[in-house]
Amino acid sequence: MNLFYFKTLDSTNLFAKKNIEKFNDKSVIYCDIQTNGRGRFDRKWLSNRKDNIFLSFILKPQEKNILKLPLTNLTQYLCVVLAKVIETYNVLTQIKWPNDVLINEHKISGILAECVWSGKDFRGLVLGVGVNLNYEKEDFVNIEQKATSLNLEIGQKINRDEFLKKLVDEFFKNYDDFLQIGFPLIRKEYVKRFLYLNCEICVNILNNKINGKIKTINNDGTLDIVEKETLCVRRVNIGDLTC
Ligand code: BTN
Repeated sequence: MNLFYFKTLDSTNLFAKKNIEKFNDKSVIYCDIQTNGRGRFDRKWLSNRKDNIFLSFILKPQEKNILKLPLTNLTQYLCVVLAKVIETYNVLTQIKWPNDVLINEHKISGILAECVWSGKDFRGLVLGVGVNLNYEKEDFVNIEQKATSLNLEIGQKINRDEFLKKLVDEFFKNYDDFLQIGFPLIRKEYVKRFLYLNCEICVNILNNKINGKIKTINNDGTLDIVEKETLCVRRVNIGDLTC
């Protein structure tokens, strides 16, 4: 595993994608500040303060393995890793499907997974993660979603480098096994933190909305939702969940 540090980047994901040929499998890029931090669905990711996590894993698993394993599963794996690392600071975490870690229903981290192809050739994966470690309450006033930061939860400054080391070590501890086994390897850890089981939710899938109750989380990490209007069960493998 190789760690690459930068003071400022536009975005660790953009940089990793642009330069993917130069990096080996299991490289990690991180920086102090991002000038164009990006989230899912083209949202912005707050990245203007140092001492937070702005990091991308560059992964080059064999194509046959990654085609077997949906990208969402890998983000769910990373989400469990994050939850465990955050809990070492004596706080409880929750998981909002598919891959947000929350504390008291306030988002603390986000994951952006991107595949890099050159024509039909698979070049690798970029798994970007942002964790709010050291922000002030006021930093979140213009953020749509309820958000928090680890320092605000435990009342003291967080050492970014210490957190980063824990995160990278924990990620690679079971990564090779996860590629072989997939979601069942983390199912128990995921489900015990899982929010909104049997709750009324709404999932936005591209321009479609499904309103209903989460019935179960399946062995492949997908959700079964009982649609409110029709009572039909819909299986969902991608989307943005709101309550
Ligand atoms: C989300 O919308 O929840 C995903 C946020 C992902 C943010 C991280 S920060 C490091 C990496 N670089 C980016 O530009 N985005 C991801």
